[in-house]
Amino acid sequence: LANGLGLTPPMGWNTYNHFHWTISEKIIRETADAMVSSGLAALGYQYINLDDAWAERQRDSAGNLVANATTFPAGIKGLADYVHAKGLKLGIYSDAGNLTCSKLQPGSLGYEEQDAKTFASWEIDFLKYDNCHTDGTSPQVRYPIMSKALLKTGRPIFFSLCEWGVEDPATWGPGVGNSWRTTGDIADNWERMTERADKNDKWASYAGPGGWNDPDMLEVGNGGMTTEEYRSHFSIWALAKAPLILGCDIRSMDLDTHQILSNSEVIAVNQDKLGVQGKKVKKDGDLEVWAGPLSQKRVVVVLWNRGSSPAKVAANFSDIGVPPFALVDVRDLWAHTTEAKVKEQISADLDPHACKMYIIIQK
Ligand code: GLA
Repeated sequence: LANGLGLTPPMGWNTYNHFHWTISEKIIRETADAMVSSGLAALGYQYINLDDAWAERQRDSAGNLVANATTFPAGIKGLADYVHAKGLKLGIYSDAGNLTCSKLQPGSLGYEEQDAKTFASWEIDFLKYDNCHTDGTSPQVRYPIMSKALLKTGRPIFFSLCEWGVEDPATWGPGVGNSWRTTGDIADNWERMTERADKNDKWASYAGPGGWNDPDMLEVGNGGMTTEEYRSHFSIWALAKAPLILGCDIRSMDLDTHQILSNSEVIAVNQDKLGVQGKKVKKDGDLEVWAGPLSQKRVVVVLWNRGSSPAKVAANFSDIGVPPFALVDVRDLWAHTTEAKVKEQISADLDPHACKMYIIIQK
């Protein structure tokens, strides 16, 4: 969407994967504090996003959405002021139907202009827009109405389409939003995570500056996967130019989680200005190679063992778009080491569900 936003994939945090529908301004404030004190804000994580269940069940007498008086007593504008004062941005959530997915608050169908104005008046910076309890019309009809309403407010608001359940979102998403969901919901386990990655991969050619494929938010740190699995999850999301929207409780994350989420070399792949989504380029049973171009003729590669026993995974330069006789440097983004003058092939011995992530630097 040509609103000047999302020139690289958005980075931030959202309430849903960890807190589901039990959210409060206290959690949001403490998360904003933790974003800064943990160093994650300085690495680019800037959006603090409310998901479902921030509002009262009923609109007020003028038809406006109102914040839940018990859980958000200072109101959303008060929260936005707090988050902005930390140098961060505030996101909110609504739905292109009559109710949100939880049924705990009204949706924006028929109230698009009014709600967009409300969000702008609260100084909201990001809107995630869900697709539950609709009138049965296509999202292609309902989503552009909110897209136009947001543009009309004059406030730059990142528009995140959560139009799950449609076959071909990437074919129309780029004109309507800054990102669009390519899958149903992620869950905190290996099967659901890898399925999201594969489904999202199909749409790679549609992504670019201003509009990104969204395989759903990160589960890193929520406890359902091993450290190696979370490292793979984060590596593939970064390579695929997915939104890096954290979903754990960053107020109490452990050291492994912090190390994964704060890997500035992996983040730099996601935020590379070329903005080309990397994809699966080779598959041999459970052994996969994912790769894509970066700026300055560099190439990012993930060697990934998706099987349940240790294995060697290899990529020939011809698999990953590097000229066959090139002499290159290979930077390992997790070990933070560089191997100079590598030729023709890279390979690694990998534990089950582990990956290696490299940048190939041509001289
Ligand atoms: C849907 C969305 C999730 C989340 C929930 C909230 O399932 O896909 O990401 O927003 O609704 O109820």
